[in-house]
Amino acid sequence: MQVEFTVNGEKISDDLPRDMTLMRYLRDTLGLTGTKDGCSSGHCGACTVLLNGQAIRACLIKMGMPRTQGATIETIEGLTKDDRLHPVQAAFIEHSAVQCGFCTPGVIIAAKALLDENPLPSRDEIKAALTKNRNLCRCTGYVKIIDAIQAAGEWMAEGWMGPKLAELLVGETASAPLLRRDSIGMVTGQTQFGDDIALEDMLHGRILWSDHPHADILGIDTSEAVAMDGVALVLTAKDIPGENKAGLIFDDQPAIAGDKVRFIGDPVAAVFAETPDIAEQALAKINVDYRPLPAVFSPDQARLPDAPRVHEKGNLCHHAKIERGNVDEAFSQCAVVFEGSYQTPFIEHAFLEPESGLGIPAEDGGVIIKLGTQGAFEDRRQLARILALPEDKVRIVQLPIGGAFGAKEDILFYQFLALGAMGTGRPVKIVLTREESLRTHVKRHPAWMYFKTGADEQGRVLAIAARITLDTGAYASLGPDVLENTVVFGCGPYYVPNVKLEGWAWYTNNVPAGAMRGFGVNQVAFALEQQMDMMARALNIDPFEFRMLNALVVGLPSAADHVMEEGVVAIKPTIAAAKAAF
Ligand code: FES
Ligand code: FES
Repeated sequence: MQVEFTVNGEKISDDLPRDMTLMRYLRDTLGLTGTKDGCSSGHCGACTVLLNGQAIRACLIKMGMPRTQGATIETIEGLTKDDRLHPVQAAFIEHSAVQCGFCTPGVIIAAKALLDENPLPSRDEIKAALTKNRNLCRCTGYVKIIDAIQAAGEWMAEGWMGPKLAELLVGETASAPLLRRDSIGMVTGQTQFGDDIALEDMLHGRILWSDHPHADILGIDTSEAVAMDGVALVLTAKDIPGENKAGLIFDDQPAIAGDKVRFIGDPVAAVFAETPDIAEQALAKINVDYRPLPAVFSPDQARLPDAPRVHEKGNLCHHAKIERGNVDEAFSQCAVVFEGSYQTPFIEHAFLEPESGLGIPAEDGGVIIKLGTQGAFEDRRQLARILALPEDKVRIVQLPIGGAFGAKEDILFYQFLALGAMGTGRPVKIVLTREESLRTHVKRHPAWMYFKTGADEQGRVLAIAARITLDTGAYASLGPDVLENTVVFGCGPYYVPNVKLEGWAWYTNNVPAGAMRGFGVNQVAFALEQQMDMMARALNIDPFEFRMLNALVVGLPSAADHVMEEGVVAIKPTIAAAKAAF
């Protein structure tokens, strides 16, 4: 249908499919990639633009809707006029309200819509506006965002127009000494994440994931997909020239599943085609013959002697233990002893930028991979082995990363970027959907924890015994190190003379668990700090004072016999600050 509208002051008349979203049109047709795609489903606010002055999520607006006909649309690119930042953009920089920058254009647009209607909003009104438009930020935490929006409102009320970009860059404003140069690209929408890059002659890749949590693969028939018009390459495990293995600590993961799948995020095949739609259609033409196997979904099931085996070596991924002193004797001398069982769940990182990346054939016969990764050198090591190339032929180019928090440490789908580029001789791009992202990347380990703790009459913790069980999912990822951390930090920031801390990480057919902020410490802190409260109250001691009494100081050893140095001095002020905040 013919649609007429204005984008950033420019009149447009175009013949468009009715069901094309405004987000896709802005990004793919106009190249306005400051409008980010965080979910394509109205849940994150990253695609927020102004439509007739109202903040709307562009992924929910279809070009065939009556409201787009004749509409005035403003995107983040339209906010910077005459090389002058809008005050909201300047305030986000000034107040450090920008971290990864992926949510930033959408939040700034929502803020502008609010300030145009309500120039001096209260904090609650700002929260309500961002909530209404579902603007999520997973890095910044909203306090600085709200500070920035209030500051922008005040600046605008005083008639300030925002700084000239040139002034910012030569350091002539008050904010210059602390200016993060990359924040300018983030507030103007110019920063390019993987999905924002389009290369000439580029192919689009889509990945076929396992249909089962546990199954043998008896055969894969790709012939129909290969024969489709517009399909350039179909990849399976057979196309790996090197070793079909991956893993950060153990090589227990196939780069592409060839004979067995162990969770629903195992990649089985990939298609590279002229458009994402053709690639998607071709995936549906791949026939995988599975023989489903019994699966295990918890450590309780995995540790049974007759449990289905996730890996040939058995279901125990890792065991860790620390023992010092004599806990049994110490408990017998305690005035109070408490036992408790605690459980924490899988937790999703929910970074705002779904994984994306590009593969480019290199002239020296190698490959260039561009992506937002947390481990460029580790990626290179693993990819070189998969590709049977020396490491200097695998070049990883770090792109801006739209949040990760631990979940972009594993190689995920990067093997397909390399194999796709080398197999076709053309640049390739893969962008995961939000659903694929959730389905495939690692989570925080769920934990089952038993703690026994005891203290003397004066409030000194004398002994801690703990048993910690983690579900590490189908592959180890960083699970062994996370488990070690649960044990090493099992006594928290406290000195405890007698300890017996033991942990087990079990393979299951769940999504793998790996790195996430805190790296195992959060789980044991959840259990231990409740034990601390119980002991303090039973002894009639203020829980904060109880913690002060037991806090590590310079010269004392942690549970793992790390003798504390100067850095430990932050513990007591932190406890005091927490008490004041309460
Ligand atoms: Fe549109 Fe998330 S709300 S991309
Ligand atoms: Fe908001 Fe990263 S700065 S999601």
